[in-house]
Amino acid sequence: MTEQRATNITWHEHHVSKQERWQLMGHRGAVLWFTGLSASGKSTIANTVDHKLYAMGKHTFVLDGDNIRHGLNKNLGFSAEDRAENIRRIGEVAKLFCDAGLLTLTAFISPYRADRDKVRELLEPGEFVEIFVDTSLETCEKRDPKGLYKKARAGEIKGFTGIDDPYEPPLNPEIVLDGDTKGIDELADQVVAYLEENGYLTL
Ligand code: ADX
Repeated sequence: MTEQRATNITWHEHHVSKQERWQLMGHRGAVLWFTGLSASGKSTIANTVDHKLYAMGKHTFVLDGDNIRHGLNKNLGFSAEDRAENIRRIGEVAKLFCDAGLLTLTAFISPYRADRDKVRELLEPGEFVEIFVDTSLETCEKRDPKGLYKKARAGEIKGFTGIDDPYEPPLNPEIVLDGDTKGIDELADQVVAYLEENGYLTL
């Protein structure tokens, strides 16, 4: 648990309710949480889903690991503690975006089950959609778009997820995407279909 340091603060109830905000958006807010190895395709799929939803007139936003680590989370590294804090902050931000009525897509490795489960607990039932981008280490390593796996194998990067740091796959994700055999567009369509079938795109 992250300790509450500030005292004498009160939580202000918003005068406009979450339901009223969602009404104005024409759909619910939700957090679409992509998790998977580096180079599994999380960001690419999330951004493709983002485009598809935008084209359908839905209100969306993408929070992406590499970008957030340049700003909000620039003071965090890749120790288990820092990764936990990374995910905690993203979870809190995503919750605010969800309350604002956005379909919020997050693309972080988020390797620890406990960290992801804490975000799920932060949200109301149904608001957290865990999407496991199930791409094998072999495929990710073959892609290696940033050359990081090569560096990790050479011992130039320590604690790299999948090489010498753990990745705990979700046990009960809402969606599993087969990143080894399917293309980006097909996988993005799978996510959109899930959202349609489960009432996320209407009220
Ligand atoms: S997380 O584990 O805390 O969720 P996050 O998704 O924010 O990670 O950042 C992962 C990205 O940081 C990777 O795609 C990769 O580009 C880069 N990176 C740098 N060092 C590491 C490392 N030790 N393990 C994993 N990714 C790393």
